[in-house]
Amino acid sequence: MLEISNLTHTYGSGPGSHHALGGVDLSVAEGELVCIVGPSGCGKSTLLRSVAGLLRPGGGEVLFNGAPVAGTPKDLAVVFQDYSRSLFPWMSVADNVSLPLRRKGLDRPRREEAALEALTQVGLEEAGAKYPWQLSGGMQQRVAIARALAYRPALLLMDEPFGSVDAQTREDLEDLTLRVRGHHAMTILLITHDIDESVYVGDRVVVLSGAPATVVGDLRVDLPEPREQIATREHPGFVRLRAEVGRLVRGPRPAAQHPTPETV
Ligand SMILES: Nc1ncnc2c1ncn2[C@@H]1O[C@H](COP(=O)(O)OP(=O)(O)OP(=O)(O)O)[C@@H](O)[C@H]1O
Ligand SMILES: [Mg+2]
Repeated sequence: MLEISNLTHTYGSGPGSHHALGGVDLSVAEGELVCIVGPSGCGKSTLLRSVAGLLRPGGGEVLFNGAPVAGTPKDLAVVFQDYSRSLFPWMSVADNVSLPLRRKGLDRPRREEAALEALTQVGLEEAGAKYPWQLSGGMQQRVAIARALAYRPALLLMDEPFGSVDAQTREDLEDLTLRVRGHHAMTILLITHDIDESVYVGDRVVVLSGAPATVVGDLRVDLPEPREQIATREHPGFVRLRAEVGRLVRGPRPAAQHPTPETV
């Protein structure tokens, strides 16, 4: 469904330029949930913006269902890392969630029904008439997730989607993502800096190096389904994968220098 080949991007030019993507190759099959992890600032959001057609990469190619991405594909939804800027403050929560459904040609009652269903899924069925600025950061993030879910995209891109919610809500949203994916045959690309989360929700975990980002690991997560917060995280396979991803994210590092009595 998604074919990324030799994707490169540099921001700016000259001495102040920043080489963000150094030739990223990645294929995602229909129905897969692929997690992308990598050090902070390595280029994860840059990669996602290229896939979403929001940024024209310096080089390489992104094919979505065989066609080069030019502009944002209709079958795609994005949950942005910066949720506070992704909701319209002058629209109610329900209107924020239902707005993209106009693009699908749904009439108003069906848009409202889909918005309420998605808000209920994220535990915000009571918040539809409020405005985003009346909600906490975590609630706003859940509205952004509800908006993407209501749209039922073929491909869902999520950039650190659970970054600003408490631990319990985070687990609930991870499980919601897995359930929705199961029901609606969505393909999901999920960026996270949380290694445990990547192994818990992913079918695959793709590890990016520090800038310029390249793929340094692509691990299949072969854990029993359905995933369950306690049992899955206790599974020996989970513990092994988490360690493997952690080593790849950290990259090759010199051994720690322990101070000797003479140097202290
Ligand atoms: N519009 C821009 N102009 C110039 N540099 C940029 C721009 N956007 C991102 N960068 C730089 O490119 C690098 C990669 O940024 P990006 O946001 O893709 O990283 P990231 O992996 O998503 O980081 P984080 O984990 O903090 O979200 C960073 O060093 C950043 O400063
Ligand atoms: Mg980012």
